[in-house]
Amino acid sequence: MELSKRVQSLSGSPTLAISAKAKQLKDEGHDVIGLGVGEPDFNTPTYIMDAAKKAMDEGMTKYTPAGGIPALKAAIVEKLQTDHHLTYEPNQVIVTTGAKYALYALFQVILNEGDEVIIPTPYWVSYPEHVQLAGGKPVFVEGLESKDFKITKEQLEAVITPKTKAVIINSPSNPTGMMYSKEELASIAEVCIKHNILIVSDEIYERLIYAKEPHVSIAQISNAAKEQTVIINGVSKSHAMTGWRIGYAVGPDNIIKAMTNHASHATSNPTSIAQYAALEAYTNQTEDEKIANEMRQTFQERLDRLYELMNDIPGFSCAKPKGAFYIFPNVIEAVKMNGFHDVNEWAKALLEEEKVAVVPGIGFGAPNNIRLSYATSIELLEEAAKRIKRFVIEYQK
Ligand SMILES: Cc1ncc(COP(=O)(O)O)c(C=O)c1O
Repeated sequence: MELSKRVQSLSGSPTLAISAKAKQLKDEGHDVIGLGVGEPDFNTPTYIMDAAKKAMDEGMTKYTPAGGIPALKAAIVEKLQTDHHLTYEPNQVIVTTGAKYALYALFQVILNEGDEVIIPTPYWVSYPEHVQLAGGKPVFVEGLESKDFKITKEQLEAVITPKTKAVIINSPSNPTGMMYSKEELASIAEVCIKHNILIVSDEIYERLIYAKEPHVSIAQISNAAKEQTVIINGVSKSHAMTGWRIGYAVGPDNIIKAMTNHASHATSNPTSIAQYAALEAYTNQTEDEKIANEMRQTFQERLDRLYELMNDIPGFSCAKPKGAFYIFPNVIEAVKMNGFHDVNEWAKALLEEEKVAVVPGIGFGAPNNIRLSYATSIELLEEAAKRIKRFVIEYQK
């Protein structure tokens, strides 16, 4: 049976090849250090798991409204008010099966065949696929390394066409960890308002920030910006709840309504008991503060150490990320020193020789870089850095 045209160009996650190889080596008994993971290495906090157990005991195990239980929507409205001084109504919120489905459904409901979506590089791997699966066309704009991988208003303006429908802003970013300042967001918002372009603001790493600057949502820039923004967020990264699959989108009510209709046919609703767990995550302020501080502090210590270690490797250069849990060094000089032409081959050899798994940047639209996740212990980060350094100094293809 021939597959649909829609999926013929769909590729699996580019991180998969390295992960599969890492797993194979691990199964063969090798001591592999995996720095490819995209999830916190913390357990979901006990108070959140208890809320899910209670929901189960109380019979909250049936279908819920497609857009999420009213209490969770109310908690999200409250959170946006408290954290960002943004006022939304519950009908502007949809709770989704992970932030990923929020993005997927969003592009399904806003794009027609051939509509363009501007995606700054480096980007999170699923954005181009989501756009293409909705019949849209990704238009890439290079976030220059010299500008901390952030795009400028001039770059944005230069690629806008009559077909441009949306732009994706992911701050803090996966894979770079970089974050847009309020001024930078204001200049991007200005262009989007002028050209009537929807801003998709993926804020999933909003709570994992180690710089002094606070997180700013582009929707906070002005009322006009807010009216043209869909915020994407969720509990996966903030509360170590990747497996629970709870995300949300907030924005113009007609878009949210269409997404809810889409969800009603695609997923029916996000898992009922996971919604009660997320409700506890957002409403138990005391525990929430404690957990957030603990996670931030741990990640910050690791980032400080890993940043130091990365810059001590010959042929590596990287700016210091401000958030998320990734570091994104440019390794092209090291790759050449080792006699390779591209980062993919180099990363494969690094895994084979030194048993360290990193993600080549090509899947994020940045072929000279690698992504390392520091969602692992300082001891393992130190050991990994030691092995990478040895590889760069000693290996010759
Ligand atoms: C930038 C970004 N957006 C969205 C997601 C999806 O999050 P979720 O696990 O809630 O679907 C991820 C997960 O890796 C991410 O890195």
